[in-house]
Amino acid sequence: MTATLITNIGELVTNAEPDVIHDAAIVLDGATIAWVGPAIDAPAADQLVDVAGRAVIPGFVDSHSHLVFAGDRAAEFEARMTGTPYTAGGIRTTVAATRRATDEELTSHVAKLVHEMRRQGTTTVEIKSGYGLTVKDEARSLAIARQFTDETTYLGAHVVPPDTDPAAYVELVTGAMLDAAAPYAKWIDVFCERGAFDADQARTILQAGGRSGLHGRLHANQLGEGPGVRLACELGLVAVDHCTYLSDADVDALSSSGTIATLLPGVEFSTRQPWPDVRRLLDAGVTVALATDCNPGSCFTSSMPFCIALAVRDMTMTPREALWSATAGGARALGRDDVGAIGPGQRADLVVLDAPSYLHLAYRPGVPLVTQTWIAGRPHL
Ligand code: NIG
Ligand code: FE
Repeated sequence: MTATLITNIGELVTNAEPDVIHDAAIVLDGATIAWVGPAIDAPAADQLVDVAGRAVIPGFVDSHSHLVFAGDRAAEFEARMTGTPYTAGGIRTTVAATRRATDEELTSHVAKLVHEMRRQGTTTVEIKSGYGLTVKDEARSLAIARQFTDETTYLGAHVVPPDTDPAAYVELVTGAMLDAAAPYAKWIDVFCERGAFDADQARTILQAGGRSGLHGRLHANQLGEGPGVRLACELGLVAVDHCTYLSDADVDALSSSGTIATLLPGVEFSTRQPWPDVRRLLDAGVTVALATDCNPGSCFTSSMPFCIALAVRDMTMTPREALWSATAGGARALGRDDVGAIGPGQRADLVVLDAPSYLHLAYRPGVPLVTQTWIAGRPHL
């Protein structure tokens, strides 16, 4: 195994003890981090990378995206910016375009978006299906997603397709579609919201997924208050995503269950919705993750740095909280302990910023600061 010394790191954020090290170095042993500490104490290695005083942070863990789709909905976005509200119904436009696309078209589109994410520092990405909504189209969406990540999520329960009886569709989602999807999926998700699936349907679908070995997660409380967050907590899901509208009972349920709240500030930005009350969650001891939700409808950004800037500027997270939530928080939301931090034994996923400090992620919004993304010990770009 080749040992690589990355040195002359002006500021290193580890998400471990010590959390921030100045004038630091890291030694990689193949795909894994072998040593972290002050540059002056670094052991010898086979090759040396001098990052010239730049900041290094853990790779971003984007725990929520919908990358398998065709077409776009730029016109819908344009209408929203002049007052048309976001509704779940727009999903059907993308379903029609996705069903028409070939496997090759869908695969090359996912590859393009994953590349875009890597350039912006994302080293782990979760990818959902949910724009197929037939047995064949959900299975192929997941088979394509699997080529890019192990964190794949079956979202047959995104919306009920047009001209379909809801009860019959839930039977399909929990029956033949689940059987076809499960070999390619780790997770099962439901859009639990007015206009999509109610709490009883969501419970039925998540429980069926559990019987097929899939772990549950939920889209909930995005467009208004509802039962989704409490359902996720009751079922002990690892994460519940969106959490834009929360009652006191929802916050209590999150803090006592340990279910992670994944906030998606790009969605609030792109749908002109109110910002989720992250301080209320953090004060209650809830673990918060940040993710992009990259999808053609509610939020078409692939940029974790952009989400961090929004979380800091508009949600009043501190820069340190936002970076933690976009790295370690995302890892926890995927049940992963091998990514999201820089310490011995962790997968060597790192981001070199063309900046002296991680503070620049929010301080210089929109600026492409990521100069190198290392995934499992290999530089990408
Ligand atoms: O997470 N909320 C449900 N699904 C996606 C949006 C899908 C779409 O509008 O195409 C989301 O926001
Ligand atoms: Fe989503």
